Order: sequence, then structure tokens, then C-alpha cells
Amino acid sequence: MLTILAVLISYLLGSISFSILIAKWVKGIDIRNHGSGNAGATNTLRVLGKGPGSAVFILDIAKGVLAVWLGKWIAGGDWAPVLCGLAAIAGHNWPVYFGFKGGKGIATTVGVMASLAFIPALIAGVIAIILIAVTRYVSLGSLVLALLLPVFVWLMDKPTAYLWGSLIICVLAFVRHRKNIVKLLQGKENKLGARKG
Ligand code: G3P
Repeated sequence: MLTILAVLISYLLGSISFSILIAKWVKGIDIRNHGSGNAGATNTLRVLGKGPGSAVFILDIAKGVLAVWLGKWIAGGDWAPVLCGLAAIAGHNWPVYFGFKGGKGIATTVGVMASLAFIPALIAGVIAIILIAVTRYVSLGSLVLALLLPVFVWLMDKPTAYLWGSLIICVLAFVRHRKNIVKLLQGKENKLGARKG
């Protein structure tokens, strides 16, 4: 019962789409009608610049951190924090307050996985950042991050619940990046720094 309550609160928390809110406050626009159309930190950076983009990134990470801690605090064990983290990512991707049209869940994933398994998340994160810096493709870095998370969670012998959680996160990331994958394969994906949609 406590786990269900924590999962529900985490979903509602994840549904707070900071890119939509901040874009509305800063410029009076719906971020989903601009740039890539994604309600996330990368598109906020692309459309509104570094300040709003960084703010969205930090706040979206915080949602993931809070959800995992909520699971640990309210229900405890291995599974509740994982389920709460997944619920926050689901809320971010399909937000109840914004017509279920949200983001791709990567910043929230960073918060979730850093709270569950810090070292695996750190190593995967550093590799993803290097890849983004070299290629300028945030989506490629996000996908590699999602693939590496279960690998490092497994290699470092973390709880089974964390491994399952990271595998589901990986599937979610690939599902949400379908269009990015097609664009990457076609060589048409947006590069960081390019202002095109
Ligand atoms: O985390 C989202 C990123 O991987 C891609 O965002 O806006 O380029 O589709 P975007």
C-alpha cells in the first residue's frame, strides 16, 4: 500500500514538466511547438538558451532524485525506490497535467540512476558526456547512456531490482528516441549548437 502511494506521488512529481513551465514563463510559448518539439532540457537549451536549459536539466534531475528518496523513505527495500524512479520517468514522458505529451526522460533518468547506483551512473554519464562533446549529438549520448546503465549496474553487482529498473529505463529511452534514431541513421539529427528544429 505504501509502495503504491509512493509510486503515485512519484508519477505526479514526474509529471511536472519544467521545460513546458519555464518556456511558458520565460517566453510565453509551448516548447512542444518549437525546435524538436520535445519537452526536455535539450530542446529548452536549443530554443531558449543556456540559462533556461540548465534550469530544466537540474530540475528534471531533481525529480528523479526526489522520487527515489521518496520510495526509500515511504516504503524502503530495493523495489519501491526503483518503481518510484520509473514512475517519475513515466510522468516526465507522459505528464498527466500536460495532455500526456512530455519529454524523453533522460535528465530524470540521470537523477534516478545516480540515486540508486551512483558509480555505475557516474561512469555511464561521463562516457555519454564525452560522446556528446565529440559528436554534438545529445540523442546519441542519451541512447548510449541508457545502454550502459544496465551494463555497469550488472558489472558492479547491484541489486537485481536495480538491474531490472535500468533495463526498463533503457527500453523507455529507446522508445522515446525513435524519431531521433531514424534521424541519426539518416544523418539529419540536430547537433548541439545548431538552432534548427
Ligand atoms: O534527452 C533528450 C535528447 O536525447 C534529445 O532531445 O530535443 O534533440 O529530441 P531532442
